Amino acid sequence: MNVRDKGNRERRFHLHLLPRSVLSVLLALVLLGCALANQQTRPANPIASPKSSVSTGPDERSSDRIARPTSEPYSGSLSIFEDPKREERLQVNRVMDVLAIKSGSTVADVGAGSGWFTVRAAKRVGSTGLVYAVEINGEYLKHIDKRSREENLSNIRTILGKADDPLLPEKSVDAVLLLKTYHEISEPVRWLRRLRPSMREGARLGIIDRTGKGDDHGVDQETVVKEAQRAGFVLVEQHDFVKPDEMDYFLVFRVR
Ligand SMILES: C[S@@+](CC[C@H](N)C(=O)[O-])C[C@H]1O[C@@H](n2cnc3c(N)ncnc32)[C@H](O)[C@@H]1O
Repeated sequence: MNVRDKGNRERRFHLHLLPRSVLSVLLALVLLGCALANQQTRPANPIASPKSSVSTGPDERSSDRIARPTSEPYSGSLSIFEDPKREERLQVNRVMDVLAIKSGSTVADVGAGSGWFTVRAAKRVGSTGLVYAVEINGEYLKHIDKRSREENLSNIRTILGKADDPLLPEKSVDAVLLLKTYHEISEPVRWLRRLRPSMREGARLGIIDRTGKGDDHGVDQETVVKEAQRAGFVLVEQHDFVKPDEMDYFLVFRVR
């Protein structure tokens, strides 16, 4: 046996001889030390901590989170958006007039689905204009790309957005339309705050949706107005011509 082995044996021996009460106190002290060390490495409140928010823009707040239900993003057949009567019922040309969409404008159709509005806006803005079709569903974007080629519309660009960020270029758009999409946006205040930098001077944001509780394919217009205001938009117009059933509404905002 070498000297180190002998020392270890002696230490083990002394520990063994300590009374039970002293051992319990020692164990409690060790556990307390571990707990304190662990607390120091974790933020006190991960939700409230600014570091815990996704992509920290200077103007973003943890209070941007909403406390209401939202609807599951639609992922079914695209044919339901192509009802031949829709154009007339929605008065889509009037919607574009309200949003001041004209030859040469740049427009974003967010939650573009089948591209129903995208292609109509692309025809209105013409070869000097541009339409961004923004979606979180990559399959729908493939459909829109194919549709643009088939309809010879070279002024359409597809963007795979994030659930909380449209990923539009800065100061790129004159008008944005969310057609039956707002109720599906899971973090609308954060999303709107991230939309803001893409809006040019005087750009208009249109939201067409249906009255509802959030998780039933609709959301009340009062809720939309409050959330848009929190994100730095101001309501400038309110219309009810998009469907004569007093359920659908059309709100228009500008950056404050
Ligand atoms: C009910 S559909 C409406 C489609 C189209 N606007 C129309 O009315 O013909 C809603 C669409 O929004 C998309 N969507 C949901 N959340 C989104 C988000 N945060 N950003 C972009 N698209 C979103 C869904 O993938 C779905 O295609």
